[in-house]
Amino acid sequence: MRTVSSKAEYEALCDEIWHHNRCYFQEAAPEISDEEFDALVRLLEKTESEHPEWISPTSPTQRLGEKPLEGFQEVTHEEPMLSLEKAFEKEELVAFYDRVARLIDRFHPAFFGEVKMDGLAISATYEKGQLVRAVTRGDGKVGSDITQNFKTIKGIPLRIDSEIELLEVRGEIYLPLKNFEEMNKEREKQGLPLWANPRNAAAGSIKLLDSRELAKRGGLSCVFYGIARQTPIKVQFQHEVVAVLHTLGLPTYLSMRHLPFPPYGIIKSVQEMMEFQQKILEIRKSLPFGIDGVVFKLDSLDETAAILPTLKHPRTAIAWKFGAEQVWTQLREIVVQVGRTGVITPVAELEPVEVSGSTVSRATLHNAEEIARKDIRPGDRVLIEKGGDVIPKVVESDHTAKNRQPPWVMPMICPSCGTTLVHTEGEVALRCPNHRHCPEQLIRKLTHFVGKDGLDIEHVGEKLIRALFARNLVRSYHDLFKLTKEQLLTLEGIKEKSADNILNGIEAAKGPHLHVLLLALGVRYVGQGMAQKLAAHAGSIDKIFSLTKEELLGVEGIGEEVAESIVATFADPLFREEVENLLQVGVIPQITQKPVGIEGHPFNGKSLVLTGTLTSMSRTEASKKIEACGGTTGETVTKKTDFVIVGEKPGSKLEKARKLGVRILSEEEFLKLLANA
Ligand code: IVH
Repeated sequence: MRTVSSKAEYEALCDEIWHHNRCYFQEAAPEISDEEFDALVRLLEKTESEHPEWISPTSPTQRLGEKPLEGFQEVTHEEPMLSLEKAFEKEELVAFYDRVARLIDRFHPAFFGEVKMDGLAISATYEKGQLVRAVTRGDGKVGSDITQNFKTIKGIPLRIDSEIELLEVRGEIYLPLKNFEEMNKEREKQGLPLWANPRNAAAGSIKLLDSRELAKRGGLSCVFYGIARQTPIKVQFQHEVVAVLHTLGLPTYLSMRHLPFPPYGIIKSVQEMMEFQQKILEIRKSLPFGIDGVVFKLDSLDETAAILPTLKHPRTAIAWKFGAEQVWTQLREIVVQVGRTGVITPVAELEPVEVSGSTVSRATLHNAEEIARKDIRPGDRVLIEKGGDVIPKVVESDHTAKNRQPPWVMPMICPSCGTTLVHTEGEVALRCPNHRHCPEQLIRKLTHFVGKDGLDIEHVGEKLIRALFARNLVRSYHDLFKLTKEQLLTLEGIKEKSADNILNGIEAAKGPHLHVLLLALGVRYVGQGMAQKLAAHAGSIDKIFSLTKEELLGVEGIGEEVAESIVATFADPLFREEVENLLQVGVIPQITQKPVGIEGHPFNGKSLVLTGTLTSMSRTEASKKIEACGGTTGETVTKKTDFVIVGEKPGSKLEKARKLGVRILSEEEFLKLLANA
């Protein structure tokens, strides 16, 4: 069991969750499974309950959500797009069923069960029968207007019955599995990185700014499963939604042909919920689209409307997600991989098998200890596990076979450069210490630098980096910016057009935000959140070079370990040289603006803590207003807190504020001060 025993580890955990949050919601390229993500969040929650003094105002528990995609118009949802509460165990379903029965005061509530599509939520609005807007979920309150792209999806009517004054429907954009495979085949031909799963592929496509490009690619589908607003029609039951929308010509489950079993139905007990889930699980493989669970919604829409949702989800619906899928296959060989920081990871080369909708031929084995503990040997029959989005892993191996090969032994030298591997103190992992010259480390570093977590250079990926490296054209980051068209044309498969695309991509990457450059260069313990803080605090890369450990410790959220790592990295001559070279070839990081605030405002530069419930606004609104004045909001009252704002039913923070002599404001006083803004 992973534990968190220091503030630095706590902060690293926050960063880790933010990173995955961003991968999932903004990049639509998750690196871990939902289960693993949930486990991280649970660990964070546990840590925060044990160490409330560590809680950072920017912890993911304080603000789990996503920002709208860049480049599209933002639209505020008339009705928020909430998410669904999740159940993993039967007991949770029982509790859910009982709770709903209690809330609506009925012994046997009826539910509507349907599949949980693995796609992207969408809200489409028809006014007087015309499709006027399609908006992504975004953070649930504000999403991105993707109408142009949405219209390119085949099967979406641009017009429905004009008698209908207003209809806002909710549904899911998804990529059918067949189209997903074709799209990946095409990408493979073009040497582009493959999409990990259909959801990412769909998200990547719908994010295209040029709808013509999307229309050309095609392949996306949509299914509607809900109604958010309706005038003058009045649908009263969830089970009618499918039929009504279908009659109007909107795509629903009814438009999907050749399904082995309707992926929905009326459910009257927990027993039926279990049976429905089982049935769907059985037909999962034959469905033409990806699903990751089932959803149960209270069937009566009037009763649903009468039960107010929580901030995050309705109280009358629940999602039951499938666990990861497991299959047996043959382990052909164990190879070791060198990461960008030199960490050596053993990887299983497998007899390809189908798991959770994709073909798996490699799986991670984590480290030598794990291989020894599970006694996994080359040639073994092994059990592979893969959740929807995850990197597959080897769960166990079959020890009963005769004539097994001898136990696998971790190599002592780096497979790329031959340097003797070392153990870093306190770590399980082995590393190749040859950071300066190990080819594989350099290639991985470069690939990270140009990739999604780095400068995100269009048309440049691992394949190109390997080719450039092999020809000695690129050894360090700045070499990329010195590439010429002639050089590119000497590479196999690169013609005029792709050479131009590559050069344009590189040119466009010359003005990264400072925090993006920091992430691209890679500083240990500095993830997305930390990079943003550091960039906002320092304002320029030069300034970071001169920051001392003490100054860094003064920045909110930066602890010992992180501060030491930043100082050490920026003092490293190799790192300095690389940054200088980048500046010289014209990579100029954009100054990260500090929040402006209002000069002379009593909250400017001050730190505030809220306790209890405000009657005039939500916590988020209050925090935004405080930030606009130049203040920050935190969760814990310390000596450094300037004001504590007290709402209804305040918690222990009020007492603490009194004890520490922190200035206390009533909601009224707070509003008065805000009004000065
Ligand atoms: S109903 C209050 N029905 O799941 C949320 N959602 O966690 C109402 N999803 O953002 C959503 N299949 O993208 C609903 N049959 C289904 C769904 C479904 C997939 C997704 C949707 C939503 C997320 C909620």
